[in-house]
Amino acid sequence: MSRQKIAAGNWKMNLTLEEGRLLVEALTQSAGTPKAEVVLCPPFMHLTMVKSLLAGADGFSLGAQNCHQELKGAFTGEVSAPMLKSAGVEYVILGHSERREYFGETDALLAKKVDRVLEEGLRPIFCCGEPLPIREEGTHVAHVRAQISASLFHLSPDLFSRIVIAYEPIWAIGTGRTASPEQAQEMHSAIRSLLAEHFGAEMAGQTPILYGGSVNAGNAASLFSQPDVDGGLVGGASLKTEEFLQIVRSF
Ligand code: 13P
Repeated sequence: MSRQKIAAGNWKMNLTLEEGRLLVEALTQSAGTPKAEVVLCPPFMHLTMVKSLLAGADGFSLGAQNCHQELKGAFTGEVSAPMLKSAGVEYVILGHSERREYFGETDALLAKKVDRVLEEGLRPIFCCGEPLPIREEGTHVAHVRAQISASLFHLSPDLFSRIVIAYEPIWAIGTGRTASPEQAQEMHSAIRSLLAEHFGAEMAGQTPILYGGSVNAGNAASLFSQPDVDGGLVGGASLKTEEFLQIVRSF
């Protein structure tokens, strides 16, 4: 069975409403019918606008960048999974390294967020990845295996089948220093083996594993041509119409 291909754009904390509107209009007008599913992940306050701009755009869906672990209540400033669902969101990025680093998100907290998102019928894009010292020490595979098992291995096979994994080496995020296609393939293949050990080969074979970290129009095709790289989670380059469209066409 062929695996789902995904090009996801993580806008992070960028673009005003007007800038976001112009970007989405330009993307949907020029994308045609994309070969991969294109998931746009704007800031929370852009979600409903982007949802209406995507009406009728083939192959595009909407993602959020985070979600609170509780369903509702006195959590000033937070956004819940039911709210995201009501805005037409289908995917939620969880465990981005920026959330882990700047907002103290732990593996255990992320396990709760994953549960909440799945309960609402949304699909987590679960991020993992090692910092530079861990890569240099050579323990990067063990590091990523530990992140995945701590936050995802409590799931039933049925729930796990909705997960998308994004491998984002921290040293490659926003640095212009991309993992080589071989480095990405090595890790993606290790992740797939780990999933096979725990959930079986069939599940491992159908789980999309995206690469993130300085993906651009020039390197996307060589990354996406690796057998275990099923697409990308793109930061900076997803804010530029032509650059992101080229990435979307790199499958
Ligand atoms: P850059 O593509 O800007 O390196 O960001 C990657 C990322 O963090 C996507 O989530």
